[in-house]
Amino acid sequence: MGAQVHGTQDFNKAKRAEIKFSDAAMQTVNTIISRYPQGKQKSALLPVLHVAQAEFGGWLSPEVMDYVAEILKIKPIEVFEVASFYTMYNLKPVGKCVLEICQTSSCWLCGAEDIVKYIEKKLNIKVGETTKDGMFTLKTAECLGSCGTAPMMQCGASYHENLTYEKVDAILDNYKSEGKLRSYTDLDYKNTL
Ligand code: FES
Repeated sequence: MGAQVHGTQDFNKAKRAEIKFSDAAMQTVNTIISRYPQGKQKSALLPVLHVAQAEFGGWLSPEVMDYVAEILKIKPIEVFEVASFYTMYNLKPVGKCVLEICQTSSCWLCGAEDIVKYIEKKLNIKVGETTKDGMFTLKTAECLGSCGTAPMMQCGASYHENLTYEKVDAILDNYKSEGKLRSYTDLDYKNTL
C-alpha cells in the first residue's frame, strides 16, 4: 500500500483493505491506462478518478484515492491535489444524485436563482447539503456550456435544460423512483428531459 493521503479526513486502513474495483471497472481502468505511453499512466488520473467515484458511492474517500495512487503508481498526495482542484470530484459523501444548477449569466438571467430556491424548498435542504434519505445533493455550478437552453442543471452525465418548476418536479420524481447513483460515467442519457 502507498503512503497515506494527507487530506482533511482520517485514513482507515481496514477500509482501504476492502477497496477493490469490480472486474468490469478494472477492465475500464486498464483500457483508459492503455491509451497512454508506457510509464505515463499518471496521465490517466482524471478519467480513472471518474470511474472510482462512480464505483465507490459517488465520492473519493482518502482510502479510494490511495487505491487509485497505487494503481497508477503515483503518490497519494498527487491524487489528492488533482481531486481537490476540480469541482466534479466529491471529497465527502454526497447523495446518489448530485444536482448542479448553473448560476452563470444566461442561467441567472433566465431564473436560475428561483430554480435553486424552488429545489431548496422542495427538498428541504440548502445549497451544499444532502437530503436525509441520501438521494439528492444540491450544488451550484459555473457555466456548463449550455447557455442557449438556460436555465439548466447537470446531474451526472445528464443535462436538463430549459428548466421550469414542473420540469424540475418531473426530473426529481424520476430520479427518486429510479433510486440509483448517477455519475459522470453514465452515458445512457435516459434521464435527460
Ligand atoms: S450560463 Fe448556464 S450554461 Fe452557460
